[in-house]
Amino acid sequence: MNNNTSRRDFVKQTSLAAGGILAMPLLSKVNYFSGADDVIKIALVGCGGRGTGAVAQALMTKQNVKLVAMADAFKDRLDSCFNTINADDASEITGVPGNLKAQIDVPEDRKFVGFDAYKKAIPFADVVILTTPPGFRPMHFEEAVKQNKQIFMEKPVATDPAGIQRVLAAAKIAKQKKLNVVVGLQRHYQNSYRELYKRKDLIGDITSAQAWWNNDGVWVKPREEGQTEMEYQMRNWYYFNWLCGDHITEQHIHNIDVINWFKGGYPVRAQGIGGREVRKGKDYGEIFDHHYVEFEYADGSILNSQCRHIPKTMSRVDELLIGTKGKIKAGDASIVGRNGKVLYQFDKKGENNPYQTEHDELFAVIAKGEYKFADAERGAYSTMTSILGRMATYSGQIIEWDKAINSNIDLHPTSYTWDTKPPLLPDANGLYAVAVPGVTNYNLG
Ligand SMILES: NC(=O)c1ccc[n+]([C@@H]2O[C@H](COP(=O)([O-])OP(=O)(O)OC[C@H]3O[C@@H](n4cnc5c(N)ncnc54)[C@H](O)[C@@H]3O)[C@@H](O)[C@H]2O)c1
Repeated sequence: MNNNTSRRDFVKQTSLAAGGILAMPLLSKVNYFSGADDVIKIALVGCGGRGTGAVAQALMTKQNVKLVAMADAFKDRLDSCFNTINADDASEITGVPGNLKAQIDVPEDRKFVGFDAYKKAIPFADVVILTTPPGFRPMHFEEAVKQNKQIFMEKPVATDPAGIQRVLAAAKIAKQKKLNVVVGLQRHYQNSYRELYKRKDLIGDITSAQAWWNNDGVWVKPREEGQTEMEYQMRNWYYFNWLCGDHITEQHIHNIDVINWFKGGYPVRAQGIGGREVRKGKDYGEIFDHHYVEFEYADGSILNSQCRHIPKTMSRVDELLIGTKGKIKAGDASIVGRNGKVLYQFDKKGENNPYQTEHDELFAVIAKGEYKFADAERGAYSTMTSILGRMATYSGQIIEWDKAINSNIDLHPTSYTWDTKPPLLPDANGLYAVAVPGVTNYNLG
């Protein structure tokens, strides 16, 4: 069976699964799956740092991949991404000499700017790469699924429980339609983690775990003259929860997700402490600079999770799982018994670049017309775990998973325009209200 035949079969199956055969955008002329040509076309939604990297990785897979459309809220971000990817020397992003020009086919009329840019770019592609701030992910993921696209989307996949529900609903449809979805929780695509996971039974039952994302913090984009509040928040998105979810969601999700993965489940409740010690002032929005959370799983085991963004403090990004027979030390890529004996040591020479591997595996599967990846649900549950932690540290209360995920809490504005007032506005001094444990209350009953 040649590639085109298997691809056509795949289209047929996908269409049937989707409950419709004729008017499927999947069969459009621009589509790889039409069998019209062998080029896998990609559209990028969110042309920032990660989007630029992800496109380079997609273009560097073995398949015949072309970037055909781009979308960003801001023209300058889109242009800068385009110039980086299309540079005469793209080694800065590819790590190898040469350029990617032959694989870039994005004329001006396929560069889309604004809040609705995603809707215009997605139709041109077979595969969409969703790399905006996470607040927009539910909306963009829903649209990509609706348009029957294969998807790579970054973590986190939402910033609030309402967004999680939207992603879960769209994930179900993606499964029915057999659309591959890879989520950028790249430790699942990293050799050392995969090898540790295979051997996790060496430590017996996992009774507790620790996870860390402690480091200095991230960029700040100070307010510029003439910006509307919406533009300011969009530029300085890390500091606003409707866009970012706080750093427990934005970064620490990676570590929390590893524990969920190895535990094979999600916490039933959480309680924690947190606040902001150094992240103060007008340009720091509302997020905390430290969180410490006890997540409890159904079997009573506890994940102690800590994340801190404070310069000149201990840095550690890592996970540790403790079982009845030993420990898995993710950072060391080793497993040790209770007596300290090394039971397994991953040879770090065999480590891969998981950012590349997630694309290598996704595009290989797409080229064969196969359905293999359904990461969205897992991405949603790990994102929800981090949101549960945030709700615990913000309120200082015990937060139950079931109540939180079903709470319909929605941090988003009702519309997206440059003049829309975002949900959180500064006070007369230009400062934003910050959660106060004991005062902030989600009234979950
Ligand atoms: N897996 C990883 O290790 C990893 C690493 C870095 C970033 N990320 C994730 O990638 C995402 C983006 O992060 P980044 O560092 O690239 O941020 P960034 O600010 O560099 O890029 C985000 C881009 O999205 C654009 N954008 C914002 N809202 C948009 C909208 N509604 N429609 C279209 N474009 C929009 C912005 O203008 C910007 O260009 C985040 O979710 C982040 O967590 C993951």
